[in-house]
Amino acid sequence: MSKGQQVQRMFDAIAGRYDLMNRVMTLGQDQKWRRFVVQRAGDPGGGRVLDLATGTGDIAALIKQSHPDALVIGSDFSRNMLKEARRRFPGAAISWQACDANHLPFADNVFEAVTFGYLLRNVEDSLAVLREVHRVLRPGGRAVCLDTTPPAKNLLYPLVRCYFRFGIPLLGRCIASDEAAYSYLTGSTMDFFTAQALAGLFRQAGFVDVGFRKFMLGTIGIHWGCKAVTQACP
Ligand SMILES: C[S@@+](CC[C@H](N)C(=O)[O-])C[C@H]1O[C@@H](n2cnc3c(N)ncnc32)[C@H](O)[C@@H]1O
Repeated sequence: MSKGQQVQRMFDAIAGRYDLMNRVMTLGQDQKWRRFVVQRAGDPGGGRVLDLATGTGDIAALIKQSHPDALVIGSDFSRNMLKEARRRFPGAAISWQACDANHLPFADNVFEAVTFGYLLRNVEDSLAVLREVHRVLRPGGRAVCLDTTPPAKNLLYPLVRCYFRFGIPLLGRCIASDEAAYSYLTGSTMDFFTAQALAGLFRQAGFVDVGFRKFMLGTIGIHWGCKAVTQACP
C-alpha cells in the first residue's frame, strides 16, 4: 500500500474524533493558527480560494467567514473527513471536493490563494505538491502552509520530545481510540523539514517573498510565499 493510501485510510478512520483530539492536543491553540493562515492568505475579493487537505473544514470555513464574497473550495482525499466538513458547516457556501493534492483537477493560474494545513508532512513528495500549488495560483497569488515542525534542540527539547513521544500517542489512545495514528503524527513531525528547510523548498518550487513564523514552542510552523508577478507581491 502506498503512503497516500495509508494516510487516506488513517484519516478516514479518525475523522469523527479529529476535531476534539486537535483541540485537546494543542491546548486549544489550533484555531488561532488557522486564523493566522487566513490572515496571511490576504483578501481574495470575489476570487477563488482553495483550502487543500481541508479535513473537517476549519480553514475553509474561516476563509468564508472573513471573505464572504470569495469562492471557497475545500478539498481532501479522505471522504470521511469531507463528510465531517459538510456536517459541521452545513450552511456555508463552500464547495467540498474530493481530490488528491498530488494531481489537482484545476487549470493553471486560477486561485487567488491556496492554503493547506498539515498536508505536506503526509505526502510522498512535498516539492511536487508545492509545484502543483504554484501551478494553480494566479501570478501574485499566495500559498500559506500550516504544519508541525521538528522541535529545536534547546533547553525545552526533552519536555517537548516527551510530549510528542508519550503524551500525544496517549491522548490518541484515550480520545481517538487510535494510538497508531498519533504515533504516526509524532514520527512524521520528527522526520519533517525544519522551518528553514521548508522555506527553501517553497523557493525551489518557484515561490517568492517566502517567510514563516513558528508557534507553540517552535513545534508549529506557518509558511507563506507568492507566485511571482513582474512587480513585488502586495
Ligand atoms: C491533519 S489533517 C488536517 C486537516 C485540516 N487542514 C486542519 O487544519 O485540521 C490532514 C488532512 O490531509 C489530507 N491529505 C493528506 N494527504 C493528502 C493528499 N495527498 N491529497 C489530499 N488530501 C490529503 C488528509 O486526508 C487529512 O484530512
